[in-house]
Amino acid sequence: MIVGVPREIKSGEQRVALTPPGARALVEGKHRVLVEQGAGLGSSIRDEEYAREGATLASVEDVWKQAELILKVKEPLAEEYPRMRAGQILFTYLHLAPAPELARALQAAEVVAIAYETVERPGGALPLLAPMSEVAGRLSVQEGAFFLTKARGGRGILLAGVPGVPPGNIVVLGAGTVGINAARIALGLGADVSILDINLDRLRAVDDLFHGRVITLVSNSFNISQVLRRADLLVGAVLVTGALAPVLVTKEMVTSMKEGSVIVDVAVDQGGTVETIHPTTLHDPTYLVSGVVHYGVANMPALVPRTSTFALTNATLPYVLELAGKGLAAAVRDNAPLAKGVNIWRGRVVHPAVAEALGEPATPLPTLLERS
Ligand SMILES: NC(=O)c1ccc[n+]([C@@H]2O[C@H](COP(=O)([O-])OP(=O)(O)OC[C@H]3O[C@@H](n4cnc5c(N)ncnc54)[C@H](O)[C@@H]3O)[C@@H](O)[C@H]2O)c1
Repeated sequence: MIVGVPREIKSGEQRVALTPPGARALVEGKHRVLVEQGAGLGSSIRDEEYAREGATLASVEDVWKQAELILKVKEPLAEEYPRMRAGQILFTYLHLAPAPELARALQAAEVVAIAYETVERPGGALPLLAPMSEVAGRLSVQEGAFFLTKARGGRGILLAGVPGVPPGNIVVLGAGTVGINAARIALGLGADVSILDINLDRLRAVDDLFHGRVITLVSNSFNISQVLRRADLLVGAVLVTGALAPVLVTKEMVTSMKEGSVIVDVAVDQGGTVETIHPTTLHDPTYLVSGVVHYGVANMPALVPRTSTFALTNATLPYVLELAGKGLAAAVRDNAPLAKGVNIWRGRVVHPAVAEALGEPATPLPTLLERS
């Protein structure tokens, strides 16, 4: 198969959908890899590094014109719509439910659009979303530590403390992928860490994982208001799949926090779990409410594009190899998680949630496979 990797053109996006090790794996599988010149630069990957693994550097026109499978990170933008070709497979983050215009463009172009975010294992795990939650979770404490310094508007706290001065207190709301990764870094810094969740099994897992060194608390408004009074750093890490994040930290609770404490609400991409949070950008990440520093960056992985690129492609590559190796129909027949990723198939909307958001009936994938 001919696999194409265009440079990402969305503002601020520095990731790339394939690394040199991925290019080598595809070339070893006898596939042809076309990488747009400069596609890896944002992630500090030079063109020569792809060429050394057997990839061909090409213009953006050639990548889109020749590739049967296009690998991207973000959804196609309007200027990319005319480049898509009927029958081409597009494998990328899409988030189509709130983007009807993009969905229509994909339908009109007759591509097969497979969304990273809906690739789903039995039991509901989302393997192509998890790596970015790992990055954001680990980064949340690193960013929180930075903004706790006085020069950045914080309380002037060293989270690790020093002999004779206690460490900082970190509260993590939600013990999923983001929360556990935040707790790991917080513990590594030597901070005093509490984590809250409504799911007792998650709290049991945290207790086992960190050998009781993290305080686990069931999440309710009583416990949240208690822990927030002591917190130097709050990490919002709650998710109710597919829904807006529940607002668990009210304005009054924020007012009760210490002056100069920091809130990093990672869940801001789902609306946020703190009443006073709103989305901010990497260039202007924080603002103050009641003396509390609020950090609401919705694309935190973009701060560390190199790590994020490798983390993302480690997770996507096995699916890419299967698609390229078996061809589309056999790959989605054999791989149920990948089949869940199919959102649009040559004009038909396949994913039920996307179909509902677009007000269209969903066409089941098996029906389309029978016809193909
Ligand atoms: N800002 C960014 O750059 C960025 C990057 C990656 C992920 N995220 C977001 O971070 C959020 C968390 O993602 P995740 O992968 O950790 O999700 P996850 O599903 O792994 O974990 C979410 C956790 O929240 C818990 N939860 C649900 N309701 C709760 C409540 N009332 N109180 C306490 N806990 C509750 C769940 O039990 C679960 O353990 C999502 O909104 C995700 O989109 C943001």
